[in-house]
Amino acid sequence: MEELNTQPVDLIAAKREGSAHSREELRHFVSGIASGLIPDYQAAAWLMAAYLNGLDSEETIALALAMRDSGSILEWSEGPGLSDKHSTGGVGDKISLILAPLAAEAGLRIPMISGRSLAHTGGTLDKLESIPGMSVDLELAEFVSLVETNRVAMCGQTPDLAPADRRLYSLRDATATVSSIPLICASILSKKLAEGTDSLVFDVKAGRGAFMKDTASARELAAGLTGIARSTGVNAVAMVTSMDRPLGLTVGNALEVREAIEVLRGSGPTDIRDLTLDLAAAMLASAGMSEAENGPSIEDLGEMLDNGRAYSRFVVMVESQGGDLEAFDALPTAAVRMELTSDRSGVWSGMDAGILGETVRMMGGGRYRMDQVIDPLVGWEQLLPCDTAVIPGEPLALLHASDNDSAAEAVRLLQSGIIWNEPAQPLIREVL
Ligand code: URA
Repeated sequence: MEELNTQPVDLIAAKREGSAHSREELRHFVSGIASGLIPDYQAAAWLMAAYLNGLDSEETIALALAMRDSGSILEWSEGPGLSDKHSTGGVGDKISLILAPLAAEAGLRIPMISGRSLAHTGGTLDKLESIPGMSVDLELAEFVSLVETNRVAMCGQTPDLAPADRRLYSLRDATATVSSIPLICASILSKKLAEGTDSLVFDVKAGRGAFMKDTASARELAAGLTGIARSTGVNAVAMVTSMDRPLGLTVGNALEVREAIEVLRGSGPTDIRDLTLDLAAAMLASAGMSEAENGPSIEDLGEMLDNGRAYSRFVVMVESQGGDLEAFDALPTAAVRMELTSDRSGVWSGMDAGILGETVRMMGGGRYRMDQVIDPLVGWEQLLPCDTAVIPGEPLALLHASDNDSAAEAVRLLQSGIIWNEPAQPLIREVL
């Protein structure tokens, strides 16, 4: 019989030497993480060994399941299919705000547990919180009840959902062990599987503003995410999508919510609309509601945006969580608005999403520490479509800032992020 390494020090040594752990060993380790019996220094040492020597697919699945089982797993009534979407993080990515009510309107139940801004990327919860009164800190029972009633709700990770991941994630953040594909897969899946959904859609970003800079590493992450989900009986599809430039014309929390509402009402930028429709169709297909299975077509989904049905579902969701959309409409604009202008002639191909995300974070639209308060009003509003010929002095974008100094600093930083003469590539790079 295989020897069971129950002491954390033995597991650390085994991983340091590159050996694989058994499922039971990982369960034991994760339960020590969740209960607090394993101290930070041993957890951190194991994380670094796992970061350096990797986890094979069996270990990654076992880690994800053990972390899922470290807390509550949501239970649902009989009813419409349950689905959720996860994006690996982008700039200007407000798709979840549109996709969740749209997919609910199309017939699914969407229990969406989302995250906050991470590094230079935005977070759905921070965007939602720019709506006055909106509560995203829900008890799990309340969250389940809202999904059962409205077919859609959005909240943050609660202390009782995958608590082992919560602890490991904060240790990873502090020990430079976040960017490991197996650790990322296990972390994301532990929470998504705890939602008890039938299907999952992953939007894996690749490019300048993504954590995965190239298609190959994004594909590896996408394959890991879909592989683990499928091996646990959850249908999954992943799209590798480009994050070289921001999505849509706005970056910044309230600005993005406003743009999402435009798309929910049938207008707004076409890149956001098209990617949302493709993700919604993929979500429905992975939940057994493709067009061929009598589900809605892409045109039907577009119609739900155009005729206001998806927006009505969004309003119900927001109001059920305390949000006041009239107060949102009445929000002031940021104190300072400053133009970013072109300093040369050429074809303006958009803004480097990584540099833009960092700049909006510097302006107060994101965080450097978890205890920082976000300024919902600051951000970026693109004035000119990408791939337009410009002359020097032409306004490209408007910066919304809290003061002149941060606006001027943003303009300075963004000059180096302007992309010139680069033909646009398709947004969807691969589907797995
Ligand atoms: N999001 C997560 O939930 N976990 C990771 O490891 C990375 C992104």
